[in-house]
Amino acid sequence: MQALLQQIENYKAEIAATNAITVDEVEAFRIKYLGTNGLVKTVMGEMKNVPNENKKKFGQILNDFKIFVQEKYNNLKESTSDTTLKTDDSFDWSLPGNPAVVGTRHPLSLVRNQIVSIFQKLGFAVAEGPEVEDDWHNFGAMNLPEDHPARDMQDTFYVNQNPSWLLRTHTSSVQARIMENEKPPIRVICPGRVYRNETISARAHCFFHQVEGLYIDENVSFADLKQTLYFFVQEMFGKDVKVRFRPSYFPFTEPSAEMDISCLICESKGCNVCKHTGWVEILGSGMVHPKVLENFGIDSNKYTGFAFGMGVERITQLKYRVNDLRLYSQNDVRFLKQFTGVV
Ligand code: DAH
Repeated sequence: MQALLQQIENYKAEIAATNAITVDEVEAFRIKYLGTNGLVKTVMGEMKNVPNENKKKFGQILNDFKIFVQEKYNNLKESTSDTTLKTDDSFDWSLPGNPAVVGTRHPLSLVRNQIVSIFQKLGFAVAEGPEVEDDWHNFGAMNLPEDHPARDMQDTFYVNQNPSWLLRTHTSSVQARIMENEKPPIRVICPGRVYRNETISARAHCFFHQVEGLYIDENVSFADLKQTLYFFVQEMFGKDVKVRFRPSYFPFTEPSAEMDISCLICESKGCNVCKHTGWVEILGSGMVHPKVLENFGIDSNKYTGFAFGMGVERITQLKYRVNDLRLYSQNDVRFLKQFTGVV
């Protein structure tokens, strides 16, 4: 016991006399005295050999020793950084730092992901397909035979090397691929990029993004379609938004309807986005045409279904008031970074 106390006094003297100038020397001190295999740990280990009646007193001494070493270490550390500061006057510590530039998600990806997650809540799975398609999946199977006038609604890019290939004009082609490969019940959404031969302007672009949906089962009705889309709109735009359905025409659905929502930009007072009507169209929809079902061997007497398709750019425009489609593909960070953390 006496020997150990003497030993501690010797260590203290040695430590008190230690001088560390460089960062490395301070670190060496830390390892030697305070490290996992350092002296303080070893001395602490002696506690088990101390008779019980002395344990309390000895514990106190050991503790003081530890604090003593720790304080010495802190002093050494402080004086080292001080010397660095004092000696290295070539460095201007008041200079602003270089901020790390962090990328952000594209607004269209944010909105696409939000649309997808709303439909996932309703049990829709996500399906994707090729952007270079054949005529059958893009048109023929969707009840748009070659001479069908409705093909003009979607001006198509054909692939030079093989004119039976085209850039898909809508993601209905993915619906076709799903019906080809799966049996009802089918409940999918198909997000993706589509292409049309349009002159680029604030209101049109030669590519844009869609999310289409398809639900086929027994007893699926137009009421299911309305309720599903109403749920979507409320999740996306809030509870106050109003919806209305207008009869429309799509070759792959019968009956067909377009859905409008009350204009969020002017709160239906009238502006150029809603063309002063108070309403903006956001999607096309309808009950899947029996002919489309039959094209894939799905019994149209047993099964019915609904489908819908919306443009991601349009939804983003209404949500974030982006009024020029070209902004989405210009990659200007001043535009892109405005959407950090908005969804
Ligand atoms: N494919 C249509 C378009 O690109 C949108 C659409 C309308 C999709 C009705 C559908 C639908 O699935 O049922 O304009």
